[in-house]
Amino acid sequence: MCYAIPGKIVEIQPGLATINYFGETRKARNDFFNLAIGDYVYAQGGLVIQKVREDEALLSLEAWKELFFELKKRDNKLSKFSAAAYGKVPITKEKALELLSISDKKEKELLFKTANSIRQKALGNACCVHGIIEFSNTCAADCLYCGIRRSNTALARYRMTPQEIMSAVKEAAGLGFKALVLQSGEDPYYTKEIFEKIVAEVHKEYGALIFLSVGERDRDFYAAMFKAGARGVLLRFETSNSGLYAKIKPGASFEKRIENLNFLKDIGYLIATGALLGLPGSTNEDLIADVLLARSFGTEMYSFGPFIPHPETPLRDTPIVAKDEVFKFIAVTRLMVPDAKILVTTALETIGQDARRLALMSGANSFMLNVTPIKYRRQYEIYKNRANIEVGLKEQVEEALSLLKDLGRAPTDLGL
Ligand code: 5AD
Repeated sequence: MCYAIPGKIVEIQPGLATINYFGETRKARNDFFNLAIGDYVYAQGGLVIQKVREDEALLSLEAWKELFFELKKRDNKLSKFSAAAYGKVPITKEKALELLSISDKKEKELLFKTANSIRQKALGNACCVHGIIEFSNTCAADCLYCGIRRSNTALARYRMTPQEIMSAVKEAAGLGFKALVLQSGEDPYYTKEIFEKIVAEVHKEYGALIFLSVGERDRDFYAAMFKAGARGVLLRFETSNSGLYAKIKPGASFEKRIENLNFLKDIGYLIATGALLGLPGSTNEDLIADVLLARSFGTEMYSFGPFIPHPETPLRDTPIVAKDEVFKFIAVTRLMVPDAKILVTTALETIGQDARRLALMSGANSFMLNVTPIKYRRQYEIYKNRANIEVGLKEQVEEALSLLKDLGRAPTDLGL
């Protein structure tokens, strides 16, 4: 789970390691360690994140050995389908637009199955499961779509202390998480000095791949966090329609958002980004442009989810997009970017029963579990009634593992 299976280094080039997993090799960036051929490591997001002792690695590999091949077999069986329905991939913009507007049940089935088959051919059965800790719902921004916007005075605010954050990290790491997203509103309380200590400790003590999802902070802040060991940033551009962006994010600039994403990519962060589906005034053309914009950052994780209106916000009366529209969007994204890591968002799970499974069968290949202490979860109210809000972490992990097993997916890294 990012339980990552340990792999053995079989080749080393400067800054790059080739890792063997049961006979398959993957390349991973090595920013942190002194590595030698024969060492065992864990990788996440195409990055070596932990060195593992040989005896520990062999024990874990022994446990995985049979399951590894069994899962593959199951996925092959479930995704067996001609991938040729729409000609060669990536599909054109025109084809993508056409597919976004289909409504016939059979046509949708064909789209979902094709996308799942392309996912299997491009990336095999790897599925990433990140943990997310929402450590503060205090936000300086006033986005029209978001329940934790500054102007929502009806919401009680919280900030987790560094100790509380570390104990949530400890719990997650103890359950096997190797990739963690630290998310909050735009909260200047967590200064560079406070936060770099947290990042450094998570990196050093737990060897987790750290994604920051803290909104627009200055470049100095992000550079310091990179130095402290963070390697990913989750920052959506929300929409590629700059006029719409200006309307829904008062005072913010679309150009600046894009510049920031490019800056973060250039200093070496893995980029997770995406947009909201169903924003008022957004068109299918916008959605296709969203995917292309995400692709332009070499995006590590495509994070697109439905917009769910919150009653205490100006966009309260917007209708929610139907869940099938989201599955269609995921499938089309898969056809546009065959080797993308595509996330099933909690928002999708909130609007549709069994959405995680259905999305994974329509082209998606990663999801997140909520690692925030239960007492704070409800207050992270970007929208109401979020899925899994009361479900303990252990139970979530068990559920996730049973789903992965059922679908023949392995919580492994995809490599570079
Ligand atoms: N519905 C769905 N997603 C939302 N977000 C904020 N408000 C909502 C909402 N009402 C998403 C934004 C942001 C992420 C952290 O949460 O896309 O980037």
